[in-house]
This record gives sequence, structure tokens and C-alpha cells, in this order.
Amino acid sequence: MAISTMEHFAPAHVPAELAWDHSLAEFNSELDDPFLAASRLLDGPPLFWARDALQGRPGWVIARHALLKEAFIDWERFSSEGGMDLTTMLGVDWKLNPVNVDPPMHPIYRKVLTPFFTPKAVSHMEEGVRHTCDELISRFEGKGGCDFVKDFAIPFPSIIFLRLMGLPLDMMQKFFTWEQNLLRGQSDEARIMAAREILACLVEHLDRQKQKPATPLMENIMNARIEEGRSLNDGEILGMFYTFYVGGLDTVYGTISWSMRYIATHPEFQQFLRDNPDRLNKAVDELIRLFGVVSTQRRVAMDMTWHGVEMKENDLVVMPIFIACRDPEAYPNPHDVDLERSETMLSFASGPHLCLGMHLARREIRIALQTFLDRFDDIEIPAGSQYSYHAGPTFNVDSLPMAWRRKG
Ligand code: HEM
Repeated sequence: MAISTMEHFAPAHVPAELAWDHSLAEFNSELDDPFLAASRLLDGPPLFWARDALQGRPGWVIARHALLKEAFIDWERFSSEGGMDLTTMLGVDWKLNPVNVDPPMHPIYRKVLTPFFTPKAVSHMEEGVRHTCDELISRFEGKGGCDFVKDFAIPFPSIIFLRLMGLPLDMMQKFFTWEQNLLRGQSDEARIMAAREILACLVEHLDRQKQKPATPLMENIMNARIEEGRSLNDGEILGMFYTFYVGGLDTVYGTISWSMRYIATHPEFQQFLRDNPDRLNKAVDELIRLFGVVSTQRRVAMDMTWHGVEMKENDLVVMPIFIACRDPEAYPNPHDVDLERSETMLSFASGPHLCLGMHLARREIRIALQTFLDRFDDIEIPAGSQYSYHAGPTFNVDSLPMAWRRKG
């Protein structure tokens, strides 16, 4: 990685040798594989200042597994609150909840939601997840191929989200388009417009839930009592709805798509999984590690020197998990699938904000991969077909043409 010393464009507290005159998203888009592109940053300093760290904004980038894990745990110095987040863009006085809330309120909110996301609770959702998976596959099963992204990876988590929330299933396309504009809109204006449309829909949904909660999760949120028995206020509830929306769709869609691309381009691994279904859980975890699609952010909470680097209160810190998950110091041979690995993964973060939906996500991904492997032989990417991706805050596949031989 070439650090620019020609021009010191960064704030005064950033040493010239740590100032990187690039856009992180553009750098990550330079190769055919964004994970390999991003992993080039492992050859540079563990912590550096990027001219465009996130959607045009300058800030610190953490480029090592060990440091990233430490920052995830150290919420007192790396705050989830007060960054340039969605609610600032919306101009509302509430926060994404619990993801953009620090302790002491964070565990109080999280406790309201936890019972719905335990492994046991997720087991109760399994039948619905299977049904959604089967129903989607039945639409293209006889065609010998599909665009895995459009036909499966996008609708699959979207339908599960809509069911969890009690939202009408025919809103899927609308919700998905809003989400794409929100995460990948070309300008702040486009992102703000999408954020407002989603909010209007969630406000309407909240009003309906006050009359009659549509699902057990909604009922639990409506009836929750926190802090000496008070109910959650509208802002706290909308923050929860919004967090599910931004947390549970794009992440699953991305991870399934990269995993399926890997399976379709590694026939021996594909056959190994068919022959050894008992290894699928481990394989899913390893694919989630290999394709850690998320980059999140923190705000420096106080002036400090961290790992020898001076950081100032309110500096933006970008936390690209996709770099950490390819760090050879944490995972030997990081670009290979290795089912014997024992190291824990960081794809779901660590510390207080460890992904609440991780058991659901794992289950969704396992069911999807298992169903494709059971139904189809020789899954492959047809020769000459185009695959495309984008490498913004989440790494995601835009199009993945796939073909197979149907099992007899
Ligand atoms: C493979 C799929 C997924 C990945 C890679 C993923 C990743 C993450 C990460 C990295 C965080 C931490 C964010 C931060 O600290 O800033 C997080 C938090 C969260 N995720 Fe996920 N996620 C996935 C799926 C889901 C699903 C399916 C749901 C729910 C439907 C969900 C709900 C949440 C929630 C509520 C939080 C906030 C937890 C807290 O702040 O305490 N996620 N996720």
C-alpha cells in the first residue's frame, strides 16, 4: 500500500506517513474480488487516515484484526453514538437502537429484543425460513439456471424481515429499492430521500402496531417495560425497526451471494458439502468468516493516543471487517476455506454490539445453501456470463448468473 507523503491533506494531528490520499471504496473496487483488493491494506499501517474513508468523508481506517476486535470491545473510547449516522441525516432526535446506543442504555434496549434471537427462538422460525426458501426456488427450479442475486439472495432475507416485522409481503420490492438507495445512493440527497421514505413507512407501521401488534416480536416491543416500568417511546421503537431494516437484509443477501459464488466456482468443495452434510454448519461459519461483508463505524469519544497514534475526539473511525477477516495473523492462509479452523470469526463484530441476528443469519444461510445443494447438481457460473459487485460499506454482488443440472 502506498502512503502519500506528497501532500498533507489530513488534519494536523494526523502524521503525514499515515495519510492515505484515496477513497477506500474505490480502492476496494480495483480487482475482480473486493476481498482480495481490500486485503492489500494489510501490507500497510494497521491504522491510517483516508481522504475518503466512508461515502466521501475522511477518517481513520483500522486495518488489522487485533485492533479492530479491541476497538469493538472498547466502547468507552470508540463510541457508537453521535457519528454521521442515519438519524443525523434524517434530522430526528432518536438513534438507531440498539446499534447506535452506548451503555448504559444499550443493554437495556438489547434485553427487549434478545429473547427473539436466541438459537431456540430461531429454531421456531426455521419452518418459515424453509418455506420461504422452497417457495422462491420453485419459481425457477425447472429453468436450469437463475440470477442467484435477483431471484433468490435479495428476496430471501427481505421476506423473512417482512414476516418478522408483520409488514405486507408485497412491499418487498419497494423496501429493497429504498434500501439500495439508502446504502448506495450516489449523493447525500439521494440517501436522505430514501431514508425519509423508509421512515414514513415505519411510522405508519408503528401506528398500526399500537392498535394491534402483528407478530410476537412487535407485541414484545409494544409491551416492553424499561427503566422503572416505563414503555418505550416512539423514537426508541422506530430506532429498533430501522436497525432491523438496515441490519438484516443487505448483510444476509451479500453473505449468501459471495458464498454461493464460491461454491459455484469450487466444484470439489461443492461435492464435499453434498457428501458431508454434517460439515455444513462449520462450512457456513467459515464462509461467513471468509466473506465478512460489513464495514461499520465509530466516533472517537475522547482525545487519546491509541497504539501510538494520536486521535481526536469526534474523529470518524471506519471498521472494515472485510479486511480483518483476511488478516493472516488471525487466520493462517486467510483466503482459503479451512474447516479445521478454530479461531473465532469477527464477521458479526464483537463486544456489546455483537450481531443480535447472528443465529438467524447463520440459519438462513445454512438452509439456503443446503437446499440448493440438495436440489441441484453441478452448480456453476455459465462460461462467458457477467458477474458484478459493489464495494461500498457492505460488499455485495449485483448479479450472479448460475446454472445447474437438476437432480433426477
Ligand atoms: C450474515 C449476516 C449478518 C452480518 C454479517 C451481520 C453483521 C453485524 C455486525 C458487524 C454488527 C455490529 C455493528 C456495529 O457494531 O456497528 C451487527 C449488529 C446487529 N445486527 Fe447483524 N449481521 C447479519 C445479520 C443480521 C440479521 C439477520 C439481523 C436481524 C434480523 C441482524 C440484526 C442486528 C442487530 C439488531 C444489531 C445491533 C446489535 C447491537 O447493537 O447490540 N443482523 N450485525
